[in-house]
Amino acid sequence: MDDSRETFGQNAFVTGFPVKHSRSPLIHGHWLRSLGLAGSYRAHEVAPEQFGAFIAGIKDGSSGFIGGNVTIPHKELAFQLADRPDALSEELGASNTLWMEEGKLHASNTDGRGFTANLDERHPGWDQTDTAVIFGAGGASRAVIQAIRDRGLKNIHVVNRTISRAQELADRFGPAIHAHPTDALGEVMKGAGLFINTTSLGMDGEAAPQMDFSPLASGAVVTDIVYVPLLTPMLIQAEEQGFATVDGLGMLLHQAVPGFAKWFGKTPVVDEALRALIIADMEKH
Ligand code: ATR
Repeated sequence: MDDSRETFGQNAFVTGFPVKHSRSPLIHGHWLRSLGLAGSYRAHEVAPEQFGAFIAGIKDGSSGFIGGNVTIPHKELAFQLADRPDALSEELGASNTLWMEEGKLHASNTDGRGFTANLDERHPGWDQTDTAVIFGAGGASRAVIQAIRDRGLKNIHVVNRTISRAQELADRFGPAIHAHPTDALGEVMKGAGLFINTTSLGMDGEAAPQMDFSPLASGAVVTDIVYVPLLTPMLIQAEEQGFATVDGLGMLLHQAVPGFAKWFGKTPVVDEALRALIIADMEKH
């Protein structure tokens, strides 16, 4: 990024601890360049004990940042410290996108929107089912549950090794959500039109369990929010068993759209060039 852009454009960040693995600078850098906008977006590592001061510097203008993205472990504190968290953040208790507007720090959580936008792009019609199975009840499954509930799915079965975590989510997200232990997986899959892996099983080349997707409805779609590797063991098995699949990379790309629009004033497009850029980077590391 050259100096003139830093001086005349808006400056945005991604912060986490650590943050160097983040691919967000690549995504936003691509959009800034392709839209010809002045501005910068860079990784800015902040330790947990410094996070309050970092947010204060955004609010009083001394940091020079208009806003940015927040990742692990700061999403909960970002929500708590924002002046104007939106309803999505309120329910999740966590925010991943911050921006200054009329002197106030606003916060949203765009992960769920990223999830549904990815399915809308790669498998339109995915929401024509009433029933979904979500495998996993960790941090990442929350925004997914919220998003598909808000899309109108009526039966959302959350299956998790630790049933108490699934039950917490059922209690939090309302009557459409049902908690189950792992051994109920085959039963709750019966007739479901959507299967979502949110567990870390199969991530980074680690082994994944043998999955039998045959109880799913014919025409069901299987997706994984893990995108390293792009074709996870679960997606490979689902394809082999004749189901449509959607990989998780698009969730990362689409969750970035609303923040960019807030900071830089233009709504960017998730296109094949962006996807190819991130895939090339994944192949390097
Ligand atoms: P994230 O924020 O990425 O969702 P997390 O909160 O650590 O990460 O959640 C990881 C998910 O993967 C959880 O649903 C976890 O199950 P538990 O709640 O029982 O821990 C699931 N998971 C991880 N390793 C697993 C394994 N070996 N078998 C089954 N589930 C596993």
